[in-house]
Amino acid sequence: MKQASLSGEMTVPGDKSITHRAIILAALAEGESGIIGWLPSEDCRRTLDAVLAMGVSVVEDGDSLRINGCGLSGLKEPNDVIDCGNSGTTLRLLTGLLAGQSFFSVLTGDASLKKRPMGRVVDPLREMGAHIHGRSNSKLAPLAITGKKLSSIKYTLPIASAQVKSAILFAGLNGSGETVVTDNYGTRDHTECMLEYFGAAFKREGDRCSVRGENRFSGKTIHVPGDFSSAAFFIVAGLIVPDSVITIKNVGINPTRTGLLDLLGKMGAKIEISAPDTQTDCYEPTANIKIVTSNLMGAGIIEGEIIPRLIDEFPILCIAAACADGETLIRGAKELRVKESDRIATMAKVLRAIGVEAFELPDGIQIIGTKKWIGGKCETQGDHRVAMAMEIARLRIDEEIELDDTTCIDTSFPGFNDLLKSLMK
Ligand code: S3P
Repeated sequence: MKQASLSGEMTVPGDKSITHRAIILAALAEGESGIIGWLPSEDCRRTLDAVLAMGVSVVEDGDSLRINGCGLSGLKEPNDVIDCGNSGTTLRLLTGLLAGQSFFSVLTGDASLKKRPMGRVVDPLREMGAHIHGRSNSKLAPLAITGKKLSSIKYTLPIASAQVKSAILFAGLNGSGETVVTDNYGTRDHTECMLEYFGAAFKREGDRCSVRGENRFSGKTIHVPGDFSSAAFFIVAGLIVPDSVITIKNVGINPTRTGLLDLLGKMGAKIEISAPDTQTDCYEPTANIKIVTSNLMGAGIIEGEIIPRLIDEFPILCIAAACADGETLIRGAKELRVKESDRIATMAKVLRAIGVEAFELPDGIQIIGTKKWIGGKCETQGDHRVAMAMEIARLRIDEEIELDDTTCIDTSFPGFNDLLKSLMK
């Protein structure tokens, strides 16, 4: 339903990527870790359930987790298959971790996750000596892992994937020697920040980082910043709903994640970053973000180094582009085809359903902005970020935008709708 304005101060739940990594490293540390402001979403609960199944003790205490780590080789064989649900991060990061353990494990997921490519983690882990088998010539989950002592590798990422980088680094924690990963794409570096913070035998130099195996580390306290990818929906909402002023506090602004801010700035967005804090634990910078309604211009061509820095913001970026004056063309982003849904196809279809000209490219999309949206039926394909993007689109028109499935929002953002309502005054 069309909104006259949105206003208020808010925070968003904890960062999803950081929460997954904090749980995994806390499980491998010695002694207690505290994870304050963790994200209790379905995806992160899958990672939490997995470490519980491997004998790690966890206490949930308000918005915190207390995890008593088992050390690098103290995890136990799970009694059952580990179900990663919809979470690619859980499945890929755990594949790396489990490849170097001394037991057997099986990882699976929901229908969407079982279609997503796993060869990208299986191949480099096999180079380290891992025994992993899966469907479709080990390209798809379920994956069966017979843990064993791994050797080290030097690996250059062939695709822009922080999950692949992290899986190899987690495998390297238990391997012999030094595992080196080169990331020429600048994908999110939360694993690197957290390995440094936990005091693992970890080094970084430019695009290369390395971890030395069999080096123990102790538990830590981690304050998880608000998830920029969750804030992104409210940033665009504030820009496109008339007469809005929103401030989002304590948002993670790690530069490997904030490509959307750079881009919206070029599109004419009025966004102010204040109180930046670069001294946070786990080396993750945070800030407050103030958003004021703006007349957006089309972004022109978006490609190259910015793509990995805004990859998860594609659905909500499409909504900003769809109401901007002029054209936006995103290319060099074929990874979008293998996210929780084929996000290029899904977004092109939902945009057309609401009267926006949108053309699929093999590796991107062309969107012609217009003020004349219409109501329509949209399929979210069970994709949380598509569902939230379309909830924001709803705020711009009186006609109904029907969404077939929005329960998937809990995958990453429990409480999304209540938070949105709290800004409607
Ligand atoms: C993530 C990495 C990205 C991102 C995903 C979370 C992570 O995936 O799209 O939502 O936490 O490492 P890829 O590694 O497949 O690019």
